[in-house]
Amino acid sequence: MNNEIISLEEITQFQSPTEEFNPYVWYKHKLQNEPVSYNQATDTWNVFRYQDVKRVLSDYDHFSNVRMRTTISVGADNDEGKHMGKFNLMTDPPEHRKSRSLLSAAFTPRSLKLWEPRIQEIVNELIHEMEEAEVIDVVKDFASALPTIVIADLLGVPSQDRQLFQQWVYDLFLPIPKENTESVNELKRRAAKEYYSYLYPHIVQKRANLSDDIISDLIQAEVDGDRLTDDEIVRTTMFILGAGIETTSHLLANTFYAFLYDNNQIYAEVRNNRELLPNTMEEMLRYRFNIAKMDRTVKQDNNLLGVDLKKGDVVVAWMSAANMDEEVFDNPFTLDIHRPNNKQHLTFGNGPHFCLGAPLARLEANTGIGLFMDKFSRIEAVPGFKLEDNLTPSAAGQMLSSLPVRVYR
Ligand code: HEM
Repeated sequence: MNNEIISLEEITQFQSPTEEFNPYVWYKHKLQNEPVSYNQATDTWNVFRYQDVKRVLSDYDHFSNVRMRTTISVGADNDEGKHMGKFNLMTDPPEHRKSRSLLSAAFTPRSLKLWEPRIQEIVNELIHEMEEAEVIDVVKDFASALPTIVIADLLGVPSQDRQLFQQWVYDLFLPIPKENTESVNELKRRAAKEYYSYLYPHIVQKRANLSDDIISDLIQAEVDGDRLTDDEIVRTTMFILGAGIETTSHLLANTFYAFLYDNNQIYAEVRNNRELLPNTMEEMLRYRFNIAKMDRTVKQDNNLLGVDLKKGDVVVAWMSAANMDEEVFDNPFTLDIHRPNNKQHLTFGNGPHFCLGAPLARLEANTGIGLFMDKFSRIEAVPGFKLEDNLTPSAAGQMLSSLPVRVYR
């Protein structure tokens, strides 16, 4: 992570965390009036419409995933915190193919089938810990806990070390603030160092005791005669944490927010007809995953977006805005769990870098929300909740830091 970080705040100019959490007016304005626009403060091009966003994400001949400047601020800038080593996903095909194939070994349909009962077990444990509580904090107790524990478990981290693991993840993915940058960077470096020292011997041990976990899959993965070294496996897992934890937490937390505040009929409707659940989660990914965006660097001069782009220009593709493009989605600014084509959303990206963890994220979300519904017949918002006081900046944008929910069994 030695790239220069581009500040999204300077592009969006949101006036408050709440506005950033509900960026729909901004998206509407951009889609209608400035679908491809240059932002001087950050020297970036920004694209919002569905077809343009899709093109930027997938046309690697013109838009490269290799960058010097980026909007992604996860990881740490010391040796331990740098991404991935030799098998780097921040590349383009054909180079990218090998790294992706190696990593895919950990995300096969077979793995997913093996993980399903473990995910159910973790969800049931979390629900059990809520005991007889009448009000829970669904972010702390569920949405942020579940993806961290799932990944720790899938990496084969013993349950007594989960707390440690959670703290490293938290520190590694803190956003870099404008002030106090150095102290946050220092926290990240320390977390990367500790994580590296913890996981490395764990991998060495695993080589002698392979089992059904991600590390064992990565140890055995082989493409064109190449395998990952222990060092590369540690780096790869760090990348997986970065890609898979905050994103899935954000999805779960925002789903509960939508149940309570966007449309309080959905929970009962889906609880009574579980066939609606997968489509409901896709609609949450389309509408309530409010801040998906990804950047690329122009690889060769072109005019593909209707403006003159020069080699080296940075283009930010706003997937969450593209998900609101009325050319593709009818009444895009309405949350509609019956929408027939909501799976066309771009929240998991498009093209050669399409999210490798999408099946896992979907499994966690569907299992998590489904078992929660089995346990709780009804949920209600707690009066007095102020969104503005319960948001926190993260690498993924404004996230809920807490969300009290009254639950009925
Ligand atoms: C709601 C949850 C998630 C969302 C919204 C999400 C979103 C994305 C997006 C947009 C990309 C494409 C990046 C690009 O085009 O440059 C991506 C890539 C990736 N995601 Fe996810 N992700 C989620 C969960 C996960 C999980 C659970 C994992 C694994 C545990 C994961 C692992 C990855 C990996 C390894 C890549 C890189 C693929 C490549 O470059 O070839 N993601 N994700």
